[in-house]
Amino acid sequence: MSTKATRLRLAVLVSGGGTNLQSLIDRSLAGSLAAEVVVVVSDRPEAYGLKRAERAGIPYHVVDYKLHRYADPRTVQKHDPALDLEALDRIQRILKEPEREKRLLTLSRLVSAEKELIRALDIYRPDYVCMAGYMRLVSPFFIQHCNRDDNRRIINIHPALLPAFPGRHGYEDTFEYGCRWGGVTVHFVDEGEDSGPILAQGIYPIWPDDDIERVRIRGLKVEHEVYAQCVNWLAAGMIHLRIEGGRRTAALITDPEYGNILSGWLRLAFSS
Ligand code: GRF
Repeated sequence: MSTKATRLRLAVLVSGGGTNLQSLIDRSLAGSLAAEVVVVVSDRPEAYGLKRAERAGIPYHVVDYKLHRYADPRTVQKHDPALDLEALDRIQRILKEPEREKRLLTLSRLVSAEKELIRALDIYRPDYVCMAGYMRLVSPFFIQHCNRDDNRRIINIHPALLPAFPGRHGYEDTFEYGCRWGGVTVHFVDEGEDSGPILAQGIYPIWPDDDIERVRIRGLKVEHEVYAQCVNWLAAGMIHLRIEGGRRTAALITDPEYGNILSGWLRLAFSS
């Protein structure tokens, strides 16, 4: 990746309200994001994020995963002889089903939906796929398609301080555990659930009289900052992957302003 700032083309995947999407769109228009959102895809036709895309004049698509629920390993493989579901199953870590046949069935349905997702995305030649409240797990088929030139190309924002509280309810899990600090994490997407190399994390205080809604609002403000900053670091070529401890891939930020930026996130968290 070059060290010169370029303007990235982003595909954003949403399932719900899309405040992260809105923050990326607004910052792009304001010139504080070195990227533009070139396409938005949702798995839910009613996702408010699609309205945000429409309002901003950004092309959007719906991939209805339910339409792929009858796909099975034989038909999926017949239509794509090069596809090796068994090989994908060996590296995936998202499906916990112990029975191999059932796992392959779920995987074939996922891959079938992801082929539609890929068709929708590829038209727009995105540099990165940003998952922003996308409530679907992606398979190694999708990951292998997106990652290229030795670069990881899919990032996700998770509403907890990973590796604590992976899964769908980051804010609730953090709050119900009684944590005094909450966090948000931007990470590259790998074959597991919320397990890829971490780009950056922001934290916010949880006050004794808080409720879950106040916590979520405070956390979302931090999410918007951290996600946009990560995109800018990617555009500036300031994120480098390094193998540490012989096996773990870590993402390192080489921004001289790193400490100041983290202080800014903390100030924002305290003022929210
Ligand atoms: C965010 O909290 C994000 O971290 C999580 O889902 C939520 C989506 O929020 N994965 P929004 O749709 O961007 O408002």
